[in-house]
Amino acid sequence: MATMVDVARRAGVSVATVSHVLNETRPVRPATRDAVRAAIDELGYTHNTLARSLVTSRTHSIGLAVSAISNPYFTEILQGVESSALERGYSLLIADPHDDPEHELKAVRLLHERRVDGVIVAPSARPDALLGHLGRYGIPAVFLDRLVDAGHDQVCAENEEPVARLVGHLAESGHTRIGLVAGLPGLSTTTERVAGYRAGLARAALPYDPGLIVGGNSHAEGAEAATHRLLGLPEPPTALVTGNNTMTIGALGALRAAGLAVPGDIALAGFDDFSWADLFEPRLTAIAQPGRDIGATALRLLLDRLAEPDRAPRTVRLPCTFVHRSSCGCGN
Ligand code: HPA
Repeated sequence: MATMVDVARRAGVSVATVSHVLNETRPVRPATRDAVRAAIDELGYTHNTLARSLVTSRTHSIGLAVSAISNPYFTEILQGVESSALERGYSLLIADPHDDPEHELKAVRLLHERRVDGVIVAPSARPDALLGHLGRYGIPAVFLDRLVDAGHDQVCAENEEPVARLVGHLAESGHTRIGLVAGLPGLSTTTERVAGYRAGLARAALPYDPGLIVGGNSHAEGAEAATHRLLGLPEPPTALVTGNNTMTIGALGALRAAGLAVPGDIALAGFDDFSWADLFEPRLTAIAQPGRDIGATALRLLLDRLAEPDRAPRTVRLPCTFVHRSSCGCGN
């Protein structure tokens, strides 16, 4: 197997120069860099980054723990983290804790044991054990999507204002009984979206009826059952807001089972856009989150933290987009 010495000999440079090209530790003249890269290709040399890690105690790997990786929203986040990481010379180790605090702790412990340089986590609704572990071992961490507290680096989308806007839009079309299918209790996204629902009602001078908020637990089955409960009220809502993409699917299933047409019999607008939300009837009026940007920002925050461990923690909020289609039934 070719060694660094072989590469240096073939390129006519020192071993130190080969090392600087491989590790980007010092600028190297373009012609020299090209000669080293050509020699690497010709000899089939592969760089052993583990050797470098022993010296620098950095592995250039990042742990990513995000629940529901199959959810298109989280897949976009993952793509954002991954492409930014690749650009900066980092690789990813990925875990899916399924929103289970014990699983989350175990996943992060294993990532730490693999000596990742830091972790990016979408925390569960009960992240206390995780936070304790990260603090105890001084593991650099960034939280995304769900916020913990301002003492940590974190990034998420705006939640409150976009939901208030959906509610306001439905109210402008004349709806006075608007139901909310809400997410898992304890997640900051759920709390903020519920706050947005209440702010939207208040702005439209509509009364708040707690009976019109039902818990869908952030997943499709929960939302289906929650929507059936709303439809069973003595005075059911004439419009629905759903708290995320999977709950929109659950709500649509329940409405279909009840023989209700959207938006003819009941209007619907939801958080999260889907790539196919424009293709099927009803075309979904939705809030699109900047998933890729959230992922890329999380990676940037983590690398900034690694470069400057004592910097002040930052919370970054990114704007969403209102995607107006036809399920809201406003006719425009
Ligand atoms: N948080 C924010 N948006 C989402 C989620 C979530 O957990 N699931 C689907 N969209």
